[in-house]
Amino acid sequence: MPELAHTIHLAACSISPRSLDMDHALAAMLDDLARPGFWAACEEKVLQARRLFADLIGADVDQITVVPNARTAAHQAIAGRRWRWKRTLLSSTAEFPGVAHAWLGGQQGGARVRWCGTDTGQVTTADYLRGITSRTALVSVPAVTYRDAIRLDVTRIAEAAHAAGATVFVDAYQAAGVLPVNVDAMGCDYLVSGTGKYLLGLPGMAFLYERHPHPGPSLAGRLDRTHPHTLDPEPPQRASWMGTGTPAVAAAYAAVAGMSLIAVLDLNEVRQHTQRLLDHATDCFEQMGETARVHAEPDERGAHLALMEPRAEDLAAWLGHRGIIVAPRGDVVRVAVHAYSTVDDINALCEAIRKYRARSTPRAHAGGSR
Ligand SMILES: Cc1ncc(COP(=O)(O)O)c(C=O)c1O
Repeated sequence: MPELAHTIHLAACSISPRSLDMDHALAAMLDDLARPGFWAACEEKVLQARRLFADLIGADVDQITVVPNARTAAHQAIAGRRWRWKRTLLSSTAEFPGVAHAWLGGQQGGARVRWCGTDTGQVTTADYLRGITSRTALVSVPAVTYRDAIRLDVTRIAEAAHAAGATVFVDAYQAAGVLPVNVDAMGCDYLVSGTGKYLLGLPGMAFLYERHPHPGPSLAGRLDRTHPHTLDPEPPQRASWMGTGTPAVAAAYAAVAGMSLIAVLDLNEVRQHTQRLLDHATDCFEQMGETARVHAEPDERGAHLALMEPRAEDLAAWLGHRGIIVAPRGDVVRVAVHAYSTVDDINALCEAIRKYRARSTPRAHAGGSR
């Protein structure tokens, strides 16, 4: 990964690092562009990307549709749904805002959104279990929350949701590519993830998994048809009802490169590796008097931690100038680890934060916490 030769990339919860494979993929795309048959090459790339994602989550390729982003996937999952008395859409305050907007959009069609979790955006599996009622029609669960990396027990939530006759939508953006994700083990009906974070590709493409055929098209595009090049208004097929048209081609090439890197990894080992690194980072932060939000139980954590910092953007910019890329969000600096991360990366980060604190006005730290 060339970028890693010059930087310490601890930000895959926000953006993938640049890899040599991605560089080669984008160069190949430009070569294809200069040759006849570009669209055929592009369609093949999209199919390859769908196959790689299907393999990653234990699905069939025809259950996977390419969409531009997670928000569109959420919209597609409820498009055309008829909400009757069973109309509650259970989401949480830890939902990624774009996905939450899709659920709020569902209210125009008669759904009622209920939020579980605290006002400050923390949610537990128990909050979801308590929120499910006989009126719940759909439960939307982030596999790992985007800010605090809380890993929810999707399997238990899906069991409870199904027992109440509800369907389950999982946002696996902060999970797929860095920890094992299996749609059958989770028991979800829909799952979305995008290519520009732990999947090591570019932003601009997301995948929607759908367990059962969707009742009707809302944003189906021409590439979702069985014969994309015919001009008759033939309807699209199955999961492809949900596609949205010409995909982000560069993102498709990069997605294949990124997911091919992941396909050769044992994600159980990657998980153990990332948890060891997070434990190490937590210990260092505690010794330094920093406050980090990270769940004590490894089973209940994703692959990043949230370091509390009221001026998160300032700290991230300062680190960035020193070649350490982290992901600020609100009042936290997120530190994300992946298969390529090392103990040296964490040590370098801690050392840099020590220097940052030493040069800033002395401040009282609240003491470390997990
Ligand atoms: C959990 C989660 N869901 C979704 C997204 C992205 O949503 P969208 O593709 O709609 O912008 C992100 C990050 O950007 C995320 O962290």
